[in-house]
Amino acid sequence: MCGIVGYVGRKNATDILLEGLKRLEYRGYDSAGLAVMGTEAKLKVVKAVGKTVFLEEKLTREPATGQAGIAHTRWATHGVPSEANAHPHLDCAGRLALVHNGIVENHEELKRRLEALGHRFVSATDTEVLAHLIEEHARHRPFEEALCAALKEVVGTFGLAVVMVDQPRTVYGARRGSPLVVGVGRDGENYLASDPAALIAHTRDIIYLGDDEVVRLDDNGIETFSLDRVRVTKAPETVSWSLQEIERGHHPHFMVKEIHEQPTVVRNALAGRLDARQGMSVLGGLKDVDERLRRAERLTISACGSAYLAGAIGAMMIEECAEIPVRAEIASELRYRKPIFDANREAFIAVSQSGETADTLGALREAKNKGVLTLGIVNVVGSAVARETDAGVFVHAGPEIAVASTKAFTAQLTVFALLAMHLGRQRRLSLAAGQRLAEELASLPEKVERLLEQDEAIRLLAKKYSRYPSFLYIGRKYNAPLANEGALKLKEVSYVHAEGYAAGEMKHGPIALLDDGFPVFAIATKDSLQEKVKSNVQEAKARRAPIVVLASEGDEAMAQLADDVIWVPRTTEMLSPILNVIPMQLFAYHLAVARGLDPDKPRNLAKAVTVE
Ligand code: F6R
Repeated sequence: MCGIVGYVGRKNATDILLEGLKRLEYRGYDSAGLAVMGTEAKLKVVKAVGKTVFLEEKLTREPATGQAGIAHTRWATHGVPSEANAHPHLDCAGRLALVHNGIVENHEELKRRLEALGHRFVSATDTEVLAHLIEEHARHRPFEEALCAALKEVVGTFGLAVVMVDQPRTVYGARRGSPLVVGVGRDGENYLASDPAALIAHTRDIIYLGDDEVVRLDDNGIETFSLDRVRVTKAPETVSWSLQEIERGHHPHFMVKEIHEQPTVVRNALAGRLDARQGMSVLGGLKDVDERLRRAERLTISACGSAYLAGAIGAMMIEECAEIPVRAEIASELRYRKPIFDANREAFIAVSQSGETADTLGALREAKNKGVLTLGIVNVVGSAVARETDAGVFVHAGPEIAVASTKAFTAQLTVFALLAMHLGRQRRLSLAAGQRLAEELASLPEKVERLLEQDEAIRLLAKKYSRYPSFLYIGRKYNAPLANEGALKLKEVSYVHAEGYAAGEMKHGPIALLDDGFPVFAIATKDSLQEKVKSNVQEAKARRAPIVVLASEGDEAMAQLADDVIWVPRTTEMLSPILNVIPMQLFAYHLAVARGLDPDKPRNLAKAVTVE
C-alpha cells in the first residue's frame, strides 16, 4: 500500500502522475513507480526505490510519454523495498500493469495455482498475483469481465488501478476496503487516486468508490459498476479543501503547520454548533437519530491510535455530562472479542481522522451486525466510516497531511465535548452547567493561540531534552489518556522511547526505571487531582528524574517542583486536554527536528492504515 494516482486525458500523463504522487508523499512510502501507455501500444514502466525525486530523475533518463497511466508510492508490507517489489506489477506478457493498496490474503494459494498454470513471478509481493490472475481470466473472456472475475476471487482488501495495452486510453480502478476516488475533470480528463489530496489541483469533484465497485475511465467518460457488472450510478461530491490547505506554505513541515492551525481548527469544530443561551450544542448530523440517542443507556467508542485516545477522553466527558456508562475500546481488540452490545439501548461511536482505518471499520461493522445505532466522528467527508455509520459529526479539521495526528485529535476532543454537552442536556445536565461549558468552549481558540506563543520556548526545551533515550509521561483522569498521546507523539516522530501512564500507576512498576537519565513529563494543570499528581512528581523527583511539567498559568508552587515548566491557560478539568495536548505536540515536533529527523515522514508509518 500507499498512494495511487491514475490519469486519462490529453496532457502528458507522466507529469500529472508525478505531481499526484508528490501530493501523496506525506502518507509515507519507500519506493515509487508508474506505467504510462504510449501511442505505439506499449507500456512504459519506470520504478525507483526511495523518494519520488529518484523516480523523477530516472524519468529524465528514461522518458515515459503518453496520455494515460497509473502510478504508485509503496509502503512495504510483503517483500522489502526494492524495484522488483515496487508497483506497478505486470502480467507475464507485460501487457497489463497494476498498482494496489491493501492485502491479498489468499495470495499464496492463488500464486501456487497460477504457477502451476505456467505464470512466472518476479516479486515478493502479494500484489503481483493480481496481475497474473487477471491475465489468466483474460485468456477466456474480455478484459473487463476478466478483471471482475479475478477480483471476485480475492480474499482481502484492494484499492487498485489497472491499465492494459489493448485499451490504450482506458484506466480501470476498483476498491474493497482500501480507499479509491475518481476525480471528475473537464475536457475529457479524468483521474483516479487513493486520496482526494492528489487531485484537488485539478478537480474538486470527487466520486467515492464503494466496496466491490469498479470504475472505467476512458474517452467516453466515467462508468462505475459492481463486480457483477451491474452499472452503479454515482454523483460526484465537491471537496471543500483548498490547495493552500494541502501545501506547506512558509512552514518547514506540515506537522508544525497543522499544530499552528489549531486555533482555527477548534473554531471550525465549534462553528454554528454552540447555543450559549440554552447551554446546548447543535449537532445537525445527529438530528435524525436524536430520539434514539436520548434513549441510549450506554455507549461504546472505538478507534485506533490517537483517535482511540481521543475516544478514551471523550468517554469520560460523556460519563461526566450525561451520566451514562461509556466504554472506549481499541478497535483491533474489540472486533475480535465477543463484545456484548445492547442493541436497543446502546450506541456505538467510531472515531477516525481518515475514516478508512481497517480495524475501526471492522469494529464498526461488528457493532452494525449486532443492530446497534452507529455514529461516526470523522474528518474526511465521503470516507468509509462516514458512509457506513447511521449518523455522525464531522470534525472539520481540514486535510491532515502530516502522518502524526495533531489537529484532528484536537478537533475530535472538541467534538466530544460538544457531544457530551448534547447528551448531557438531553439528560440531567443543568442549563447553568451547559451555559458554563458553552462559554468555556468558546474561549478555547484564544487560549490555544496563547499556548502557541510559547513555540520558541518549547523548541529550546525540546533541544535541551533531545538526547535522553526515554521519557515517562504521566497524568490523571482526563489527562491520563493524554499522557499516552504525548508519549505516542514523541515516539512516532522522534523515535525516542516514551511511555504514557496514569500517574497513580507509576509506583506500581515504571518508577523502577527512573533515574537522572529518565525524564518525566507530568501533566499537572490545576484540577481535582492536581495534588495527587504533585505527589507523583515528588516521587519521581526523589529518584532524581528530570521533571518537565505542564502547569496552569501562575501556579508557581507546581513550577517549583519541576526542572522546566510549560504554562497552560486555565480552563475546566474536562476541557483541559484540548489545551494540554498542544505543548506536547510542539515538544515532540521540536525534539524530532533537534534530532535531525523529518517529522512529516516517520519511518514505518503510513497516514491511513487500511490494512489490519
Ligand atoms: C498517531 C496517528 C495514528 C492514528 C491512527 C488512527 O499520530 O496518527 O495513531 O490516530 O492510525 O487513524 P484514523 O484516525 O485515520 O482512523
